[in-house]
Amino acid sequence: MGSSPWVGIVLLSLAFMALCVATEVTYDAHSLIINGEKRIIFSGSVHYPRSTVEMWPNIIQKAKDGGLDAIESYVFWDRHEPIRREYDFSGNLNFVKFFKLVQEAGLYAILRIGPYVCAEWNYGGFPIWLHNMPGIELRTDNPIYKNEMQIFTTKIVSMAKEANLFASQGGPIILAQIENEYGNIMVDYGDAGKSYIKWCAQMALAQNIGVPWIMCQQHDAPQPMINTCNGYYCDQFQPNNPKSPKMFTENWIGWFQKWGQRVPHRSAEDSAFSVTRFFQNGGILNNYYMYHGGTNFGRTAGGPYITTSYDYDAPLDEYGNLNQPKWGHLKQLHAAIKLGEKILTNGTRTDKDLGNQVTLTTYTNANGERFCFLSNINNNQDANVDLQQDGKYIVPSWSVTILNGCNKEVFNTAKRKRKTPCKEREVLKQINFLSEKELTFDVGDYLWYMTSVDINDTSIWSNATLHVNTMGHTIRAYVNGRHVGYKFSQWGGNFTYEKQVSLKEGPNIITLLSATLGLQIMVQTLIR
Ligand SMILES: *[C@@H]1O[C@H](CO)[C@@H](O)[C@H](O)[C@H]1NC(C)=O
Ligand SMILES: *[C@@H]1O[C@H](CO)[C@@H](O)[C@H](O)[C@H]1NC(C)=O
Ligand SMILES: *[C@@H]1O[C@H](CO)[C@@H](O)[C@H](O)[C@H]1NC(C)=O
Ligand SMILES: *[C@@H]1O[C@H](CO)[C@@H](O)[C@H](O)[C@H]1NC(C)=O
Repeated sequence: MGSSPWVGIVLLSLAFMALCVATEVTYDAHSLIINGEKRIIFSGSVHYPRSTVEMWPNIIQKAKDGGLDAIESYVFWDRHEPIRREYDFSGNLNFVKFFKLVQEAGLYAILRIGPYVCAEWNYGGFPIWLHNMPGIELRTDNPIYKNEMQIFTTKIVSMAKEANLFASQGGPIILAQIENEYGNIMVDYGDAGKSYIKWCAQMALAQNIGVPWIMCQQHDAPQPMINTCNGYYCDQFQPNNPKSPKMFTENWIGWFQKWGQRVPHRSAEDSAFSVTRFFQNGGILNNYYMYHGGTNFGRTAGGPYITTSYDYDAPLDEYGNLNQPKWGHLKQLHAAIKLGEKILTNGTRTDKDLGNQVTLTTYTNANGERFCFLSNINNNQDANVDLQQDGKYIVPSWSVTILNGCNKEVFNTAKRKRKTPCKEREVLKQINFLSEKELTFDVGDYLWYMTSVDINDTSIWSNATLHVNTMGHTIRAYVNGRHVGYKFSQWGGNFTYEKQVSLKEGPNIITLLSATLGLQIMVQTLIR
């Protein structure tokens, strides 16, 4: 006996509807409106070919845990069409799978098609066969180029549509981009550049994807393309249409590494300052470039002289680990700004100059609810601000304080949450490893032991003691990939190795290389 067929049919059709429920994405000057709800969006760039498929779920989850609403990626033409009309979407080129995972994690996505993407990627993502086509001129009003660009764009859009990836189809993609920072170089192309960008807009719109299109760094973006800003700071940016929302498509959280140059670093404090200033001045979407930079595998690194690592000093490091304190500081910032989401997206803004580069920005909605930003952009003087009945605040130089209800400090971009110092030292982690005899069965001399410890208080653990009891003959120790020392047992017996080591905030990898040099002979037995 089965259940009534009607129940089955009803359940099936419900499931079908759930899968295909469209998400409506529109906008006004102060918000993205997703299914009627006015939203502020935190997004992060993660380029799918810069990590492995196995890493994707972990990276996406950590982005979500860090308070992101969306993941952004370019598509990489040269990888997808290495030979003309021979496509590759396998392995970590499977962008459909990547965006599906983003959706499964409950996040939105932003698809930047380009298809010129720059991105420190070899030849900006253009396949070399394209360059070699007779009569072609790239990125301008050239029929051969435009034809190829349209074919590739249509290919990507149709694959996305087939997989129901656009929000209009119930998928995660809420915005899509055509071209990339063309405004920065358009002048070199004269009138052909101007007609090319109009053609790009029309070609994109004709794809009929049901979500808004953006163009970054395109001050004359043809309507309804929304022009957006890339840079370290975009608080002074205004879109060319007053009805367009103010969006930051690339907040440069660090920088790429070039051979022979110092390792780029941007502080957590300055990153938070840039984001907060942007929202203080009416921004509604911030995308970190990069949130996870990853690796330029094979010959994908752009040039000249860009390294294989594309770590970018991003909140998630090249391997997908938390880059602290950046990841945690930005997570707290996201939560603080979200407290004001309803007021920021549906309120009126007033700025009050308090002198010496200190500004109070107040957002007030129709119910009289308030949300404030108190900024001090003076880069060498802290400010003591008295807001009367709303309280007194110390705003460090080059920082912004977020005031929930305009009278409660919930975040300051320069103040990182630290633990109280001078705490008793404790044993952080004790691990009892098996001995080499049990693990290697005497078929080898070397054994790597590896473990990770999470540090949340560097005031204690920047001077820690690594203590190893070993029955091996020699031991070498490494902390976070750096050799810290070695010791051997003079008479071949048990010994203890101790070393002062400095641990950093977040995960620390402790590695020990143990070696044996001949197992000990049982002397007693031999004498007899
Ligand atoms: C925006 O504010 C107006 C006036 O209070 C209110 O009627 C409207 O529902 C709000 N819209 C949204 C999307 O919250
Ligand atoms: C910090 O680490 C200690 C020891 O592992 C733990 O007891 C404590 O809960 C941690 N604190 C935070 C804020 O994560
Ligand atoms: C680190 O700790 C050790 C032992 O706890 C102590 O002898 C040493 O002076 C400390 N070093 C610093 C720089 O604090
Ligand atoms: C060496 O260590 C093992 C395991 O802790 C212990 O059983 C043994 O007694 C030690 N031998 C010496 C000579 O200390």
